[in-house]
Amino acid sequence: VVDADRLDRNLERWQAYCDRVDLRSRPHVKTHKCVEIARRQVQLGAAGLTCQKLGEAETMVDAGFDDVLVPYNIVGAAKLERLAQLLERATIAVSVDDASLLPGLDRAASRSGRQLRVLVDCDTGLGRTGVARPDDAGALATEIVRHESLHFGGFVTYPALPAAREFLGAAAAGAERAGLEVDVVSAGGTPAMWSAGELRPVVGEYRVGTYAFHDRATVAAGAATLDEVAMTVAATVVSRPGDRRAVLDAGSKSLTSDLAPSPGHGVILEAPSSTIVRLNEEHAYVELADGESLELGQQVRVVPNHACTVSNLFDEFVVVRDGDVVDRWRVDARGRSR
Ligand SMILES: Cc1ncc(COP(=O)(O)O)c(C=O)c1O
Repeated sequence: VVDADRLDRNLERWQAYCDRVDLRSRPHVKTHKCVEIARRQVQLGAAGLTCQKLGEAETMVDAGFDDVLVPYNIVGAAKLERLAQLLERATIAVSVDDASLLPGLDRAASRSGRQLRVLVDCDTGLGRTGVARPDDAGALATEIVRHESLHFGGFVTYPALPAAREFLGAAAAGAERAGLEVDVVSAGGTPAMWSAGELRPVVGEYRVGTYAFHDRATVAAGAATLDEVAMTVAATVVSRPGDRRAVLDAGSKSLTSDLAPSPGHGVILEAPSSTIVRLNEEHAYVELADGESLELGQQVRVVPNHACTVSNLFDEFVVVRDGDVVDRWRVDARGRSR
């Protein structure tokens, strides 16, 4: 269930913040995978979209969006072919953290007859992908420009941990010393979104995904309050097998098994101190807190631990305003994880 007013407020508030601190916003569609919501983000002023997978990018380009960053190593002939086809239809940028990927990207771009923007993926603390030192980032940037169909697009990192600013500043300075122009330095992440302005002027672009809906994790991080959460999972109490035990019809195939900082698999808004202690595929086991009760047949709303993985499990969002269903939006890129 998506609360349209809360969604709009979340989108508007973030765009207003970006305008105030002079950051370009490039929202990440992985959270909603929904063309209708992406349209709202761009209408409000987003500079383009971020997609994590080519499948998401294909969905968004099919829908008419023409500026997409895929901050991901594109590996293997099949993906490079899809990248070439995408590039024929839209302005696409990708990231790399390894020079050995550049010849494949170059051939794909050359096949499409267009230049491909390539950003250097920097590991500024997460320990996921990305080059580990600013010098390596600069060296990879100089490799990119040796390829005829590749354009060095700048640097990208996730998330924006405090060390990011120094790392990215050093990488950008190194690239400039080598005579390269740095188009953009892009950071991201909802937990730290309200301090993104402190990354200026090194960082010029910021990518947020979860901010559209928020969830239990971003509320725990202090990026939002529970009453700003715009997406919940509607569930029904299907069993009351004991005084302190209730069972909901939303299991791991609805709430996912992703965890949040505090225990449990989501917050039941009608019984917020109670805990979803365990999930099966189609059942949530609720331990009721003192003073809280749930009735057999009662419909409840659950704030999930992680909104992005929940969207991917449903075909559509049921859109409500003031408690009434006003629309249904397809989750267009659900399952498009290739
Ligand atoms: C590369 C990249 N950019 C941006 C984001 C957006 O993060 P968030 O949903 O916290 O806003 C993510 C999230 O995983 C990411 O991997």
